[in-house]
Amino acid sequence: MRALVVAGARPNFMKVAPVIDALEAYGAEVILVHTGQHYDERMSDVFFDELGMRAPDHHLGVGSGSHAEQTARVMIAFEPLVIEAQPDMVVVVGDVNSSMACAIVAAKAGPRVAHVEAGLRSRDWAMPEEVNRVVTDRVSDYLLAPSPDAVDNLHAEGYRSDQIHLVGNVMVDSLLRNIERARRRPILSELGLTVKAYGVLTLHRPSNVDNDVTLARILGALGKVAEHLPLIYPAHPRSAARAERIGVPPGIRLVPPAGYLDFLALQAGAALVFTDSGGIQEETTVLGVPCLTVRENTERPITVAEGTNQLVGTDPERIVGAAVRILAEGVEPRRPELWDGHAAERIAVVLTHQTDQLLRPTAANAAVACR
Ligand code: UD1
Repeated sequence: MRALVVAGARPNFMKVAPVIDALEAYGAEVILVHTGQHYDERMSDVFFDELGMRAPDHHLGVGSGSHAEQTARVMIAFEPLVIEAQPDMVVVVGDVNSSMACAIVAAKAGPRVAHVEAGLRSRDWAMPEEVNRVVTDRVSDYLLAPSPDAVDNLHAEGYRSDQIHLVGNVMVDSLLRNIERARRRPILSELGLTVKAYGVLTLHRPSNVDNDVTLARILGALGKVAEHLPLIYPAHPRSAARAERIGVPPGIRLVPPAGYLDFLALQAGAALVFTDSGGIQEETTVLGVPCLTVRENTERPITVAEGTNQLVGTDPERIVGAAVRILAEGVEPRRPELWDGHAAERIAVVLTHQTDQLLRPTAANAAVACR
């Protein structure tokens, strides 16, 4: 089986690494495509180095742009590659613009489409990622779900049972594989931090960081928390410049985006994590570290029901109140079923056992021009 595996943005890299290894271990030929949605050394290259991934076989170099520009550029660059490589399957992960763009191209060009992390829903249509999640699932043949709630969502939306596979969480595969290496990193001492005597902050959702008033309100609340618990803030390029311009309260230390291992080490040693990311809600759950999610909803409700996550929204009183409570009471570490480090292997079993039913693109459907 020839699989074309797509990665485009920071949260994709740690998800594709174990999937590539497992597919190859099960005899598949893997072609790795990097769309170039994230391109900075700190947003991309460092992840390839630390995850021990080979260089991509193809780099599409699409870079930044509006949603339409970025999505369109990925589609235009990816289509000829699919036609030339003639894969049996295209594997996309997560919910970024690159995932949706490549899934749409593949669905029309002929190969089967597999979506890793299928079925997650925030039901918040203001999030670009929610559009990406729903569209990607819709055009996928194999829906590889990380948790039972995702399976329920897919059934409720009318997908066939034989398309849906509960496989567990590949991000957890990478975490468990790398956590001991991460704990040996000197990042805490380099930043002068003591285990459990600091918190970590990340913010990059457009709804939180693209508006000065909202970002100032959130940072103001976090500044109050930081009077008692210093916060380290590895800032995504989306929020760094704006946060610096409107002013970061004392006690919150803005640092450049961290690499994968350093960021795992920072999370593992933290007393508390504030975030609006999806993956960090999952990683803190597995690490048993309290997470306060600065959003009104989550596509990962299992991290609230069965993990260490709480939704606190953007209201300053709610943020500060939740932080005070959780620092006093702590959390009980729990881990959802199948978040056990073997999700990628389950995916490889599903995908490599289906090859007899696969369609290769024919000249007729792959090269047809649209009118
Ligand atoms: C993207 C994903 C989001 C994911 C996040 C993780 C979409 C719609 N969003 O959001 O789901 O959680 O990545 O990081 O796909 N930039 C750089 N250097 C880079 C990459 C981006 O400076 O390497 C800048 C861009 O110029 C842009 C901003 O960061 O101004 C946002 O990048 P973009 O790829 O549009 O979305 P993210 O916010 O990173």
